[in-house]
Amino acid sequence: MDTDALKRLAGEEAAALVQDGMVVGLGTGSTAACMVDALIRRVAQGLKIVGIPTSLRTAEQAQAGGIPLTDLGAHPRIDLTIDGADQVERGTLNLIKGMGGALLREKLVAAASERLVIIVDDRKLSENLSLPVPVEVVPFGWQATDLRIQALGGRTVLRGGADGTPYVTDNHNYILDVDFGAMGGSRKPETLDAALREIVGVVETGFFIHRAETVIIAGEGGVTRWQRSA
Ligand code: A5P
Repeated sequence: MDTDALKRLAGEEAAALVQDGMVVGLGTGSTAACMVDALIRRVAQGLKIVGIPTSLRTAEQAQAGGIPLTDLGAHPRIDLTIDGADQVERGTLNLIKGMGGALLREKLVAAASERLVIIVDDRKLSENLSLPVPVEVVPFGWQATDLRIQALGGRTVLRGGADGTPYVTDNHNYILDVDFGAMGGSRKPETLDAALREIVGVVETGFFIHRAETVIIAGEGGVTRWQRSA
């Protein structure tokens, strides 16, 4: 099975968890897009839900496919959110998210959700989180914010957009991709997350610590589910 087939498998498995009457958080990225496609098919067959998208592009996909949309103002409590991830740590189910640039809305939606179900193919699994973590920062004075992040020991890269200018998020911010190396020993994601969030100018980080309830993993052998123990 190629990666796209694995993403579809994970997306369909997660979409099957959605029930009539639910408020559903709709994730962002290529795997989440497969789940949205599966939900669009179910809505066309009569499933009654409202969705809260985590990005403008997910909103566009869902709307075009006929999923009624709402927002956190009308529905501050979400029954179930299904989203992708860039890396999943075995055991803890801690995540790195935000390669797709939607980390802030993804975290806002996750924070409002009773359940967060993450869908990945098995190449996203890792013993320890090790990818550069995306950090959303305010454009004003981003260079000073960048220096403070570097002082925590991270190597930073300002994410570029297609035309060579900085990538701009749906919230009109920039993203610094910060490489701290692999987590482990005294290098703990929760400590780094807290230190990053103390820096003025940092809006949010792509560390999702103790947020995923379930991870649905698609691999050659089929689908596996991991549950986070309390
Ligand atoms: C979007 O900002 C991200 O958090 C995505 O959920 C993550 O990048 C996974 O995307 P893919 O499913 O495209 O790998």
